[in-house]
Amino acid sequence: MRKKIVAGNWKMNKTAAEAVALAAEVAALVKSDVPSNVQVIMAPPSLFISEVNKATEGIANLSVSAQTCHEKASGAYTGEISAPMLASAGVPYVILGHSERRQYFQESNAQLAAKVDAALENKLTPIFCCGESLELREGGEFLAFVAQQLTESLFHLSAEAFGQVVIAYEPIWAIGTGLTASSAQAQEMHAYLRQHIAGKYGQAVADACSILYGGSCNAQNAAELFACADVDGGLIGGASLKAGDFITIAKSF
Ligand code: 13P
Repeated sequence: MRKKIVAGNWKMNKTAAEAVALAAEVAALVKSDVPSNVQVIMAPPSLFISEVNKATEGIANLSVSAQTCHEKASGAYTGEISAPMLASAGVPYVILGHSERRQYFQESNAQLAAKVDAALENKLTPIFCCGESLELREGGEFLAFVAQQLTESLFHLSAEAFGQVVIAYEPIWAIGTGLTASSAQAQEMHAYLRQHIAGKYGQAVADACSILYGGSCNAQNAAELFACADVDGGLIGGASLKAGDFITIAKSF
């Protein structure tokens, strides 16, 4: 059985006090309301990871994640944080390749391959994001484009290493726009990616890989999306900033 995962990407939101308050609210609700087979993850701004991590203590199905990391272990990279730093702070997950990182920080598939390696070497679980622009969707080449993102950033991994990776499909046109992919569009892409993974690593590895959907997923539409055979959860932006909405999503399987 694949892991069911609901991860909240807080992006560049919340002050220190707000982050602590949201983490506490989420922690209380995960304890009381979320089934133990659903892994809930909070990805706060890096400044607050340690504080937010404290709220997850003693709750097996609640974890913290970073929103990115650098591919180098240390050095003169002002403003960056590395995978060994995250590991040393007890952080189990790192989001890599979010479309905002690709767009605003020019992260390429090759650089992301190096970041994935850095994460795995430090026993962090990468939540690897992929997804197409509206232009690509309308041009009809979107399935092959997203598959290529996996090929270029992940397919150098051994089957064992690939087995540690979580994938998040986030169509760029659906992020923060209120334009969710329909469940049919999400299922089409997720099934295609699973088949692509099977072609490289075999069916057993593909069947074990959790593929999350992200892009305007909210408390109203999560249940329909999560009901799709190949959708194993969500990567949530805006709706993860309110504990009640986020937990409703985590209960939508
Ligand atoms: P929204 O849920 O705000 O559309 O953001 C999705 C996302 O980018 C999560 O990483």
